[in-house]
Amino acid sequence: MPKNIILIGFMGVGKGRTARALSDQTGMYTVDTDDLIETMTKMKIRNIFKQYGEPSFRGLEQKTAHWLEKHVRASIVSTGGGFFMVGNIKKLGRIVYLHSSLEGILDRISQHPKGKKKIKKRPLLQDLKKARALYETRLPLYRGAADYEIKVESMDIEAVAAEIISRLALKRASKP
Ligand code: S3P
Repeated sequence: MPKNIILIGFMGVGKGRTARALSDQTGMYTVDTDDLIETMTKMKIRNIFKQYGEPSFRGLEQKTAHWLEKHVRASIVSTGGGFFMVGNIKKLGRIVYLHSSLEGILDRISQHPKGKKKIKKRPLLQDLKKARALYETRLPLYRGAADYEIKVESMDIEAVAAEIISRLALKRASKP
């Protein structure tokens, strides 16, 4: 049974869009950890942070990680930016870190037509100074957790997916 592919990286780097492009090119199913948490709790992530605080959200991420370990195989998993800190991350699959500079990420978000909404839904992007500090703290941690690093800056999503297919020697799917 092929291993899962776990996409990690900073907020807004394009993990979800990359997962969907990879799914399209390989025919593998994809799930997103933030979506799983929102479905299970029937709450938006920003409201979980607001009402229950970040530690509760991290607990939900760990619960999701246990579920993934037990039940999900041969799939692409896009993750929230802090999900890689779960204790069993290495058991979930091959870990692919999508890397971009913070400037690259912020430029891309600000040029997006729904840029404001994309910032609003991310509690840890509200304060730019804090986001920058978080980026600096996390960078070596992402690299420490990753089996592969893909530099995504100024690459379009289809090209990022193609690069992952080539580096991980995945099979391309013929379209149904
Ligand atoms: C977080 C990233 C978010 C979301 C939550 C916390 C983080 O996901 O899980 O707001 O700690 O970096 P995205 O990476 O999809 O923005």
